Amino acid sequence: MPKNLGLTPPMGWNSWNTFTDKISEGLIKESADAMVETGLKDCGYEYIVIDDCWSKRQRDENGVLVADPEKFPNGMKAVADYVHSKGLKFGMYSCAGTHTCAGYPASFEHEFVDAKTFADWGVDFLKYDYCYKPDGMPGELLYKRMAMALRNCGRDILFSACNWGADGVHNWIRESGAQMFRSTGDIQDTWNSISNLAKSQFGKQSQQGVYCWNDIDMLVVGMHGGSNSSWIADGMGCTDIEYKTHFSMWAIMNSPLMIGCDIRNMTDATKNILMNKDIIAINQDPEGRGAYVLNSNGWAGVNVKILVKVLENGDYAICMVNFGDHRGMGTVCFWDMGLPTASGYGFEMYDCWEHKNEGKFAERYSCDIESHDCKVLRAKLVKM
Ligand code: GLA
Repeated sequence: MPKNLGLTPPMGWNSWNTFTDKISEGLIKESADAMVETGLKDCGYEYIVIDDCWSKRQRDENGVLVADPEKFPNGMKAVADYVHSKGLKFGMYSCAGTHTCAGYPASFEHEFVDAKTFADWGVDFLKYDYCYKPDGMPGELLYKRMAMALRNCGRDILFSACNWGADGVHNWIRESGAQMFRSTGDIQDTWNSISNLAKSQFGKQSQQGVYCWNDIDMLVVGMHGGSNSSWIADGMGCTDIEYKTHFSMWAIMNSPLMIGCDIRNMTDATKNILMNKDIIAINQDPEGRGAYVLNSNGWAGVNVKILVKVLENGDYAICMVNFGDHRGMGTVCFWDMGLPTASGYGFEMYDCWEHKNEGKFAERYSCDIESHDCKVLRAKLVKM
C-alpha cells in the first residue's frame, strides 16, 4: 500500500523537544500555521507530528484509543483536517510496548486496531517508541507487526520506528518496512549530546538509504534552552554556531530533519539555519548515499572530522566539523576521495553556508575552523 514513502529523509516538526506533555489543538494548529508562514513548508518541511501524551489514560470500551478531550476537544480528525488544509501532513505517536514512555496506553496487542484508528483520523506518519516492551518479546517482531498493520490499513502512513538503536536495529529494520529508525538515545539541547549522537553513527551509513533512513533524533536547533523538560534543555542550550554544525551533520548523514524548537518564535539565525536550501539539498539528494568519514587530517591531535557524501549529479558534499575546543585546521586530501593528482582534475568548491564559490583547488583543500563550527562544501570535479 505505501507508495514511495521515504524516498528522501522525512522533514517536519515534532512537539516533544520543546513542549513534552503541554500539547493542545491550539498549539498544533499554530505550529501548522507557522510552518507555512515562515517559509519552512517551501523548504520541504511537511510533517506536523504530535508526540507522546495526546491520549486519555484508558482506551474506550471497544479498546480504541481516545484523544484527551481537554487537550484536543474536537478530536484528532479535526486536527488532521486542519493540518491537511494547510497542505501539510499529520503525524502521531504510539509505542510498541503496553504503555508509551510517559505512561499512556500504547499499541502492544492493539497494532491492527490502532493502525485503523490512525487511518480513520487521517494520520500520515506514525512514530513508534520502545518503552514498556513486555519482557521476552523481541522488538524486531513488534516493529514487523506494526509495519504490517500500517502497510495494509488503507492509508499511506510513514512508519517512524524509535527503538533508540537497541537490539541491532540497523540489521533488521529495513526489512520490516519502516521508513526511518531512531538509532540513538534521546537528544538534549547541549553540544555534548549533539556531538555524541552524531559520532555514534559515523561508519554506520551503509545501513540506511532510500526508503529507510537513520534518524539521529529530532533537531534541537533554535531551542536555546526552551523546553518544558529540564532534562532535554538545562540552561541556555547551544550557540547558533553549534546549531549550524548540528544541522549540517544531520543533513549530510541523511537523518530525517524533524524540527524540535517552537517554530512560532524563531530568531533570524534559527530561520537561516533551518531554511538553508544548499544544506537541505544535500540531505534530500535523490540517491540517498550515506556519508563516509575521511581520515585525511595531517597530524594526530587535530579534532576536525570530515564527512563526504556522493551526490546524484557527480558532485561531492563535504562537511568538516571541528569537535575540538580550539580553532583548528581541517584538510581534505583529494586522493583520499579517489582523485589521483595525475588525473589533472581538481575540485571547484562552493561554500554552502556563505553561498559563494571559493574557486578551484588541486590536490587538497584546507581551512581553519573555529571550535564547534563547520565548513560545508559542494565540490564539483573540474579540469585544472
Ligand atoms: C522516548 C523517545 C522520545 C520521546 C519520548 C516521549 O524517550 O525516544 O523521542 O518520544 O519517548 O515520551
